[in-house]
Amino acid sequence: MLSRIFSCAVVGLEGVVVEVEVDFTNGQPGMTIVGLPDTAVQESRERVQTAVKNAGLHFPRHRVVVNLAPASVRKVGPYYDLPIALGVIVLGGHLAPETLESTLVIGELSLDGVVRHARGVLPMAATARAQGYKRIIVPEMDAAEAALIPGIEVIPVSTLAVLFDHLSGSHLIPPYQPSDEVPVPLYLPTDFAEVKGQEHVKRALEVAAAGGHNVLMTGSPGSGKTLLARALPGILPEMSIDESLDVTRIYSVADQLPAGTPLIRHRPFRAPHHTISHAGLVGGGNIPHPGEISLAHRGVLFLDEFPEFGQRVLEVLRQPMEDKFVTISRAQGSLTFSANFQLIAAMNPCPCG
Ligand SMILES: Nc1ncnc2c1ncn2[C@@H]1O[C@H](COP(=O)(O)OP(=O)(O)OP(=O)(O)O)[C@@H](O)[C@H]1O
Ligand SMILES: [Mg+2]
Repeated sequence: MLSRIFSCAVVGLEGVVVEVEVDFTNGQPGMTIVGLPDTAVQESRERVQTAVKNAGLHFPRHRVVVNLAPASVRKVGPYYDLPIALGVIVLGGHLAPETLESTLVIGELSLDGVVRHARGVLPMAATARAQGYKRIIVPEMDAAEAALIPGIEVIPVSTLAVLFDHLSGSHLIPPYQPSDEVPVPLYLPTDFAEVKGQEHVKRALEVAAAGGHNVLMTGSPGSGKTLLARALPGILPEMSIDESLDVTRIYSVADQLPAGTPLIRHRPFRAPHHTISHAGLVGGGNIPHPGEISLAHRGVLFLDEFPEFGQRVLEVLRQPMEDKFVTISRAQGSLTFSANFQLIAAMNPCPCG
């Protein structure tokens, strides 16, 4: 009799439900994890065993086999610790399997059983809702993010022991209730009104802000290009809730959501330095991460000292600027990240100034 707990992986910007199957077999006590796990998932073995014992629960003296399905999805990161631990506890007969029906479980465990922050909780909650799950169990600090998705119960957990008490019915955790916190902007712009004169440039920027147009500013040193660009976020139109969720999803996956900011309400403003690599700009890495152009989605990408950027770096901007998204292909498959940004560039008329 195996136990089956549902968890979630993030592929690109989308959540994919992962089934965590746990069973006992013959052999030396310990744990084997199969189903395309990366190193962080393999290390779950050690974390789960210690966390279960330290939570005051019994770790079975059997060989435990864990299968993460579907095997075709690459499992990255330590988010399966909590579902694996629950699977072991259920299989050991300490919890009824029904307690985890229609529930997604996400969370990394520390050795003492504390549940740690997970990245990408927003797309995971969205997937849970879309696939008809009733409940999602998430780390306490990520509950506000999960609660952005309406119509799903969010159970915030601090430790494995507390979750065990909740599931066994001895001490229930109340579902997370969202609070009305005032969102803090990611970037504090210069006040547009502080720019003296420059009426024509200000007008051009106002038109660009209203219409989402790209702008190239050229002018001699000290003429206020950087200042004007940095004042632009202050006059950008507000984002709708859907746009906010769109942007927040990218920051959630990139693990760049500032603490205490579950929802990004202000348009992003990204100003990468000109030494940035093309992978940093458009996204990339072995397991592709969103780059600056995706972090600037529905906001502004400001490239100061434009000619200093490498030619190859600028060339890779072409396709995303036309398509409003970028597709990154790797041997394991290709991922698409949104990249609908407004480009503001500033340069001197000639390298000598
Ligand atoms: N129109 C203006 N109103 C108020 N302050 C200004 C204005 N123009 C420039 N400044 C001030 O002058 C200084 C230089 O401006 P800034 O750095 O924006 O110039 P720049 O065009 O980006 O120069 P560079 O080509 O050297 O990068 C800043 O401290 C800026 O605040
Ligand atoms: Mg400048």
